[in-house]
Amino acid sequence: MGVISKTFGVVFSLLFEQEIMSYVPASGCATAEPSPAASPAATRSTRAPAPQRRDFEAKLRAFYRKLESKGYGQGPGKLKLHIRRDHLLEDAFRRIMSCSKKELQKGKLCVLWDGEEGLDYGGPSREFFFLLSRELFNPYYGLFEYSANDTYTVHVSPMSAFVDNHHEWFRFSGRVLGLALVHGYLLEAWFTRALYRALLRLPPALEDVDALDAQFAASLRWLQAARCVSSLELTFAVSERLADGRVLERELKAGGRDVPVTERNKKEYLEKLVRWRVERGVAEQSEWLVRGFHEVVDPRLVGAFDARELELVIAGAPELDVSDWRNNTEYRGGYHDAHPVILCFWQAIDRFTNEQRLRLVQFVTGTSSIPYEGFSALRGSTGPRRFCIERWGRIESLPRAHTCFNRLDLPPYPTLQLLHEKLLLAVEETNTFGIE
Ligand SMILES: *[C@@H]1O[C@H](CO)[C@@H](O)[C@H](O)[C@H]1NC(C)=O
Ligand SMILES: *[C@@H]1O[C@H](CO)[C@@H](O)[C@H](O)[C@H]1NC(C)=O
Repeated sequence: MGVISKTFGVVFSLLFEQEIMSYVPASGCATAEPSPAASPAATRSTRAPAPQRRDFEAKLRAFYRKLESKGYGQGPGKLKLHIRRDHLLEDAFRRIMSCSKKELQKGKLCVLWDGEEGLDYGGPSREFFFLLSRELFNPYYGLFEYSANDTYTVHVSPMSAFVDNHHEWFRFSGRVLGLALVHGYLLEAWFTRALYRALLRLPPALEDVDALDAQFAASLRWLQAARCVSSLELTFAVSERLADGRVLERELKAGGRDVPVTERNKKEYLEKLVRWRVERGVAEQSEWLVRGFHEVVDPRLVGAFDARELELVIAGAPELDVSDWRNNTEYRGGYHDAHPVILCFWQAIDRFTNEQRLRLVQFVTGTSSIPYEGFSALRGSTGPRRFCIERWGRIESLPRAHTCFNRLDLPPYPTLQLLHEKLLLAVEETNTFGIE
C-alpha cells in the first residue's frame, strides 16, 4: 500500500521535479497555525471569548437531548444482538445488516453474549463495541489501514477494494459508528481527521494529505506558495496509476485537460487536487461507510459538530493525566521544566478543562488519542516522539504546532495571563494550514 502511494507521489512530482528538489522542505508535516480570524489584530477588535463558540459539552448535551426527543434508541422495539464471542464479527454483521433503518434508529439496544447470563444494563454493550471496533477497524482485516507514519490512526484502505463484499462491510462499519454514537459507547479506534470530515460531508483539507503522502503534500504546499504557476503549463488533469499498474489521465473537471492552471484558478486546482488525492482509490468505500452511518444518524443531527469534536465524541475524551504529561515533556530552545515560561505553561494547563487539554494535545499531536501506556509512549512520524515545547517567536505571535514532531512552538510570554489567553486562542481557533 505504501508502495502505491509513493508511486503516485512520484508521478505527480514528475510534473515539476526540478522545483520540488530545490524548494521543498525536508518535512512535509502539518504545521498548525491560527487561522486569519485569530490573528492578534482581529481579536483585539472583536474580543469575543473563543471558548463560547466551542462549547463542546453544551453541544454534546444538546445532541443527546435531540436524539432523545426524536426517539432514538427509545424503543418500544428492541435491537437485540445475540453474539457468539468466537464469531463476533460475523454475528454482528449478520444481525446489524439485517435491520431496517427504523430498527437501527429506534430500537432499544440489547446485547446478549451467547451462553452467558445477565441483562444488558450497559456492560455487555460496552464490551461489545470495544471488542467489535478492535476487530472491524483493525488493519489486519484489510478494510482499514494505518495512516502513513502514525501508529494509531486508521483510514479506509485502497486495498479494501479487493475484500469480498467490501461495500457491505463499509456500510456495516458506518452503521457501527452510528450505533456507538447514538447509544453513547466509545470505540477503540482512532480515525484520521479526513474520515471524520467525510462523516460530516465536509470537503477534505490539505492537512489530510499529510497523513497519506508527505511528498505529495509538500508538492501542494510548494505550488500553493509558488508565484509562477502559469509557466508550469499544468492543466486540470492528473496522471493516476491504477492498482493494476496502468496509468490513466484523469480530468479534475470536465474538459480539464484543456484548462490551463493560472494564478486565478490555482485555488480551485489545489482544492480539486486535494480531493482527488484524498479520495483516490477509496471514494466508493468511503461513500458506503458514510451511507451506513447516516442510516443510523440523521446527518442534520451531527451537523453541529466539527470534525475534531466528532472525533472526541466517537473515540472518547479520556481524562488526561497532567502529571504524566509533564513528566514526559521535553524542552528545546532554552526552555526547561523550571523555566518561568514553562511554569506558567503548566499553570495554564492546570486551569484548562479536560476538554481544552485534549484540544491542545490534538493541536500539537494531530489526534486526541493518547497511547494506553500514557505520554511516555507518544509517537511521532518516525517513531517514539515525546511532547516537546520549543521557545520560538515573539510575544505578539500565537503558539503554533508541528504535528509530526509533537512539538509546540511557544513564544516567551511574560505573564501567565497572556500565555493562557494565547494558548487558548491558538487551540480554539486554529486551522491546520489549509487552502484559504
Ligand atoms: C514516513 O516515514 C518515512 C521514513 O521514515 C518517510 O520517508 C516518509 O516521508 C514518511 N511519510 C510521512 C507521511 O510522513
Ligand atoms: C511525575 O514525577 C513526579 C516526580 O518525579 C512523581 O512524584 C509523580 O508520581 C510522577 N507522575 C506520574 C504520573 O508518573
